[in-house]
Amino acid sequence: MQKLVIEGGNRLSGELNIQGAKNSALPLLAACILADGETMLHNCPRLSDVYAACRILGSLGCECKADVNDITVKALSPCGCCVPDELMREMRSSIVFLGAVLGRVGECSLSFPGGCELGPRPIDMHLAALRKMGAEITERYGLLHCVCKSGLRGADINLGFPSVGATENVMLAAVRARGVTRILNAAREPEITDLAQFLKCCGARITGEGSGAVTVEGVEKLHGCEYSVMPDRIAAATMMSAAAVTGGELELIGARASDLGAVIPVFEEMGCRIYTYSDRLYISRRGQLSAVSLIRTMPYPGFPTDAQAPVMAALATACGTSMIVENIFENRYRHVDELARMGASIKAEGKVAVIDGVPRLYGAKVRAMDLRGGAALAVAALGAEGITEISDIKYIDRGYESLESQLRALGAKARRESF
Ligand code: EPZ
Repeated sequence: MQKLVIEGGNRLSGELNIQGAKNSALPLLAACILADGETMLHNCPRLSDVYAACRILGSLGCECKADVNDITVKALSPCGCCVPDELMREMRSSIVFLGAVLGRVGECSLSFPGGCELGPRPIDMHLAALRKMGAEITERYGLLHCVCKSGLRGADINLGFPSVGATENVMLAAVRARGVTRILNAAREPEITDLAQFLKCCGARITGEGSGAVTVEGVEKLHGCEYSVMPDRIAAATMMSAAAVTGGELELIGARASDLGAVIPVFEEMGCRIYTYSDRLYISRRGQLSAVSLIRTMPYPGFPTDAQAPVMAALATACGTSMIVENIFENRYRHVDELARMGASIKAEGKVAVIDGVPRLYGAKVRAMDLRGGAALAVAALGAEGITEISDIKYIDRGYESLESQLRALGAKARRESF
């Protein structure tokens, strides 16, 4: 078992290269199944979720080689169609392999991804869309078996909610389907655009990505390509929270202002100064942080749910009362009780969390309950008085490349310990 040990009180300063986006690298790795030949992905983050995706590719018969931040994938024929249960359980987002395997092989078996630490994670929209494209899907004893022997066909898909995963799954199923697929009420996250650009680099015909209406014209074949994963906007928001909490000044290289449209105004309302350039963002904080009256998490381009926890950690010691409404996931306040152990004064009821800023937090022994909640505890620890120990950091390692090394490089007293 490992824990992060962080001694608070140091201002962070310096420049940091923002890691590649976990939530883009994962669908891009799944998409490699659809491309004949070799694909090289640059700027892949070194994360346990990424390595889990590589193991799934391996179980499907693909050759997958990781070399620091470069991952090479060779999709060989015939491609397997069964994802082992233990691999499905490692990572909830492995459901995105369904569309890719169906699109390549016309058959796929995998276990239901099930809920996770954020609450139930239904896939009803994924399955309804794939059925409309001709897949016969049976669900029994937690297993999904999908068959489409005559190959998937294009269809008009209207998503009841702009689900990121469902949009990605339909895109992956559609690129080699017969005919045209139109996805209405599609997710507009930058990761969707990144996936579309990658697929077009492989020869796919896609328009409308980033708008609410994506059109995919199916093609016979896709070829391998070389592509660089977009920067991780949530990692950038997490580091912005760290700068805000410590009163530091950071230069986040790779952070794209266009991905952070709803995030930057929140930090400006907190009292941070932000300058953005084409390939970086500069953030500094002088004086006391101010509360933010209301943050509502929404689908992109609204405020991202994944930034909710790290920003809450910054608001815990802001002057005044802040309110957050979590509209995306049912159970995304599990970091509140852990922050309370550090002296935070936060009341969470249903979707709403009310944060009464306190003068300071204190170091404590806390537990990461999920990925972004764990990152929030690290952010809180940076500004707390004394030493914080964060256990269950396997959650943090799913989404942040050696968080303690990144923070140490910016002046934090942070280390990883086994126990
Ligand atoms: C992606 O999850 C991200 N994960 C999440 O990041 C992110 O929080 C989420 O999108 C929202 O932006 C990856 O990309 C790997 P959704 P996903 O489908 O695709 C409901 C992180 O911390 N829903 O947009 O699972 C669902 O229950 C992770 O990096 C259905 O009801 O999100 C949720 O309430 C956490 N039925 C809402 O939609 C469905 O068929 C949004 O889910 C699908 C989704």
